[in-house]
Amino acid sequence: MANYQLFATMGAGFESVTKKELQALGYQTKTSNGRVFFSGDQADIVKTNLWLRSADRIKILLKEFKALSFEQLYDETFAFDWPQLLPVDANFPVAGRCVRSKLHSEPDVQSIVKKAIVDKMTQAYHRRGFLPENGQTYPLEIRIYKDKATLSLDTTGASLFKRGYRVEHGGAPLKENFGAGLLLLTPYNGTHPLIDPMTGSGTLAIEAALIAKNIAPGIQREFAFDNFDWFDQNLHAEAVAAAKAQIKSDHAPIWARDIDQSVLEIAKLNAHNAGVLQDIEFKQVAVKDFATDLENGIIIANPPYGKRLKDRRSAEELYRQMGQVLRPLSSFSQYYLTADPKFESFFGAKANKKRKLFNGNLRTDFYQYWANFHGQAKHHH
Ligand SMILES: C[S@@+](CC[C@H](N)C(=O)[O-])C[C@H]1O[C@@H](n2cnc3c(N)ncnc32)[C@H](O)[C@@H]1O
Repeated sequence: MANYQLFATMGAGFESVTKKELQALGYQTKTSNGRVFFSGDQADIVKTNLWLRSADRIKILLKEFKALSFEQLYDETFAFDWPQLLPVDANFPVAGRCVRSKLHSEPDVQSIVKKAIVDKMTQAYHRRGFLPENGQTYPLEIRIYKDKATLSLDTTGASLFKRGYRVEHGGAPLKENFGAGLLLLTPYNGTHPLIDPMTGSGTLAIEAALIAKNIAPGIQREFAFDNFDWFDQNLHAEAVAAAKAQIKSDHAPIWARDIDQSVLEIAKLNAHNAGVLQDIEFKQVAVKDFATDLENGIIIANPPYGKRLKDRRSAEELYRQMGQVLRPLSSFSQYYLTADPKFESFFGAKANKKRKLFNGNLRTDFYQYWANFHGQAKHHH
């Protein structure tokens, strides 16, 4: 079976996490400009879409070339064997992205690439300038970075953060792949207890349960490759069956707490849809009343962050309570994501490590406090 040059895309700051995931799946990787490259066949396209927890998309690298003029862009695009990739009725949207390049107008770049493909296709299929584009979708991308153009085909479709378990939005949920990425920045593997004291719609607890049970994050969803006419359509069902056979049942306790019962109901619905409702203990508890007899685990949360002054004050009061109630639980490693640059002073301790991450457009820090129990793991990241 054909071997493809592939790459994973992910949110800024998660390159090393996705790279580790790919390596754990057995791939050799190379990271370049926020993309992690690897190679594989169609079964690998299925496997990575199904299993990567932190990535956004898996794309096939079709062609790379230098693009300094529109003419060059047109000619190089035209020269690619599009009829081998696209059936005559293919719907092929072209997304354009230009960064630090001479060709910087994204709409122009995108429409020239589209034109070159249409011209090649109409010529090859003898269609006299008309293509129906009413068939299956083949999402294409042209990206020009420092004058180097990359043509790629997206095998994923809707971003991998859409696992398919979230039916309702409560509060300000983390994206599923962002939540999983945070967990993968910790040593969490299901053998130690995990607590999210401010769980909201439950993203971190649910993603933790998926990790603990070795459930493939994409097990419930479809991908763009399901509709490619040259793609072996047995591979997806085979990979899902294999993934189902690998699900584990035993893991350490996962606790999800929140002050707000209504968001907990949403979290439970999401957990039910993800198949992990029985794996998480949900309970309405305010941080100031939190107590646990669990030990040697992980506390992870994305506490509220106030944008307006009044909300800021109450968020900071909450960080103080976290310092009084959670900080003394010193057998736990603790991880908090917030956009408040003064978090450490309210919490009352300097983090062992901070990592800058963008939650959507919001610049946040992931404050990491290491307990003794994973003393070795502190050198992981
Ligand atoms: C930013 S949201 C968490 C979002 C969550 N990570 C998700 O993906 O859905 C913050 C949560 O903290 C909860 N919260 C606020 N004050 C709290 C308190 N004093 N005790 C416990 N939970 C609190 C809110 O109800 C809200 O659900």
